[in-house]
Amino acid sequence: MDGVTVINHPLVQHKLTIMRKKETSTAGFRRLLREISVLLCYEVTRDLELTMETVETPLETIQAPVLEGKKLVFASILRAGNGLLEGMLELVPSARVSHVGVYRDHETLEAVEYYFKAPEAMAERLVIVVDPMLATGNSSIAAIDKLKERGAKNLRFLCLLAAPEGIKNFHAVHPDVPIYTASIDSHLNEKGYIVPGLGDAGDRMYGTK
Ligand code: URA
Repeated sequence: MDGVTVINHPLVQHKLTIMRKKETSTAGFRRLLREISVLLCYEVTRDLELTMETVETPLETIQAPVLEGKKLVFASILRAGNGLLEGMLELVPSARVSHVGVYRDHETLEAVEYYFKAPEAMAERLVIVVDPMLATGNSSIAAIDKLKERGAKNLRFLCLLAAPEGIKNFHAVHPDVPIYTASIDSHLNEKGYIVPGLGDAGDRMYGTK
């Protein structure tokens, strides 16, 4: 699928399978989400630009690579996005963080925004937007609308599971934003859940109903 990268690393696929199981506990789900987010972060940042810096090792002076440009931004779509955020910050501790509060109205499935914070100079940074589930696409589309209004130009979207319907809706509005996911599932059901999916990611992560 154009503009979509499926991260099929064996460890990602193995952990995802355990997360899908309905008997996996809240604690287990949260731990796996943290572990998988480190691996997903590794993949979504694999092609970042590098620049050379002069470094003195104990033995000699060399030119060595470091990340180019301003610090990355991880933009978490609340609340489930925070489950991916933690592991990603372990890997890139200097990243800036944006929080986008959007919830899905369970009747209309439309995105309702309630919170937004972002760092400065968004136009000069790579913004990686995270939400475990790309279902209808409404929340992620709304979040990216906001981030673009704030100046973001270079964005990627990272999720655990994506529905084909969500990918289609998302790319109809934001064709410039590549999607990274561990799986493209079968379809959305009438309630907007991803099938086979893993249920409600926020509820599974926090033990709510
Ligand atoms: N959000 C979730 O947490 N799960 C789904 O299946 C769809 C949206």
